[in-house]
Amino acid sequence: MLLRPATGADFDFLASMLLEAYNWDGQPRFTLSALTAMDEAWRYLDGWPRSGSDFGVVAEVNERPVGAAWARCLTSDRPGYGYVGDDVPELSIGVSRDARGQGVGRALLTELIAAARSAGYERISLSVEPANRAADLYRSLGFVEVGRTGGSDTMVLTL
Ligand SMILES: CC(C)(COP(=O)(O)OP(=O)(O)OC[C@H]1O[C@@H](n2cnc3c(N)ncnc32)[C@H](O)[C@@H]1OP(=O)(O)O)[C@@H](O)C(=O)NCCC(=O)NCCS
Repeated sequence: MLLRPATGADFDFLASMLLEAYNWDGQPRFTLSALTAMDEAWRYLDGWPRSGSDFGVVAEVNERPVGAAWARCLTSDRPGYGYVGDDVPELSIGVSRDARGQGVGRALLTELIAAARSAGYERISLSVEPANRAADLYRSLGFVEVGRTGGSDTMVLTL
């Protein structure tokens, strides 16, 4: 597996991973066109990459992208579900279905956390539905629950 920085050329792949995150339990609740029309979802990606705010990592196997994790600072007037502050990037992650359970997600997050630290951020946040096993992954990396928004837990890692 190769890990590399996510760029503007990865926009469509990141959108497909955002869709996986919204359909995390395998139920096709959302389509991509529905997501693009939902500002509370699309604000995680629109205009990617915003300079000075966005950073991300793509995992590739045999030159094919199989997962991505990225983060962006959202603002109190247009927050994410995991918003805790304008200076705290909120992360999104998705791994292609056929590549899950092989360590890709953990590798992506480890790299994204290192990138957040190098960029000088003090914290990074996320939002996860309590039934999603991704929460175990986040806890194992040091994220802690700090609140709940819209039925999802907000988790924060102090860097
Ligand atoms: C959550 C997700 C990113 C994890 O990526 P992954 O490559 O499957 O994870 P890994 O193989 O690195 O496993 C890491 C941990 O995830 C958890 N995990 C394992 N299988 C999992 C599964 N099917 N679904 C969710 N989490 C799983 C375990 O705690 C695992 O711990 P371990 O390393 O001790 O075995 C991936 O399953 C996914 O894309 N899920 C759908 C989208 C999603 O839920 N995004 C996050 C929304 S908050």
